[in-house]
Amino acid sequence: MKLIISNSVEKLNIHCSEIIADMIKINPELKLGLATGNTPIGIYRSLVSLFKNGKINFNDVRTFNLDEYLGISKDDPRSFSSFMKKHLFDHINLKNENINIPNGGAKDPQDECKRYDKILVQAGSIDVQILGVGLNGHIGYNEPNMNLSPYTHIETLAEVTRNTNSRIFSSEEAPVQGITMGISSILQSKMIICMALGKEKAQVMKEVLEGQITTQCPASLLQSHPNCLFFLDEKAASKLNSKNIFFDIQYL
Ligand code: F6R
Repeated sequence: MKLIISNSVEKLNIHCSEIIADMIKINPELKLGLATGNTPIGIYRSLVSLFKNGKINFNDVRTFNLDEYLGISKDDPRSFSSFMKKHLFDHINLKNENINIPNGGAKDPQDECKRYDKILVQAGSIDVQILGVGLNGHIGYNEPNMNLSPYTHIETLAEVTRNTNSRIFSSEEAPVQGITMGISSILQSKMIICMALGKEKAQVMKEVLEGQITTQCPASLLQSHPNCLFFLDEKAASKLNSKNIFFDIQYL
């Protein structure tokens, strides 16, 4: 497993964005999987800066977001759609028709899952998938469970996830469910960039990287991915066993 650790979040963001820029140079039609939440905001800022400096061209890139809140329409400022516009889409030359996000406001959510999954299947494997990790080890909104769903599905959000979401929703309004890409679509990505920042992620990252591979910690499944790069700041890496011989560690 490849771990990139730094005490500078900025260095991590720049490194991630440069990897993505290089991948787009190699393949201008890159299929890029996107996450929302606090973690990737700096990567998006860095991608926007590369774009403004003429170092990256999104003209033929296609994007696929991991998830969306169920019952929240795409125009709602709290939706993941709005988040993506604010932090990335409004600042780069990505074509509207190349943006894919589940529609949380769909009248028939099951149909929406099928529609989104069809898009993913037709597109084929995502080339580079950006991931954050929930405090309980969720990826996308695949919450810890006995079984994980392979395909796009409706997921009931764990309590810890709903509590975290209360930073943007009042407790009564916090969505109970989300539409999420399934675990198979995520794991089929050719490359995964998984980032975790801050001391509140230290315990979960120990479980993700050094614990057993278990559906009770969905991000632990990334241990078996052949091309997953973990980007951690020193706080998120603070509980890792430095003698773990399975890690290929690079310090930035
Ligand atoms: C969001 C998503 C989630 C987040 C995770 C971490 O699209 O898929 O899995 O990546 O909840 O969120 P932050 O980055 O806010 O700690």
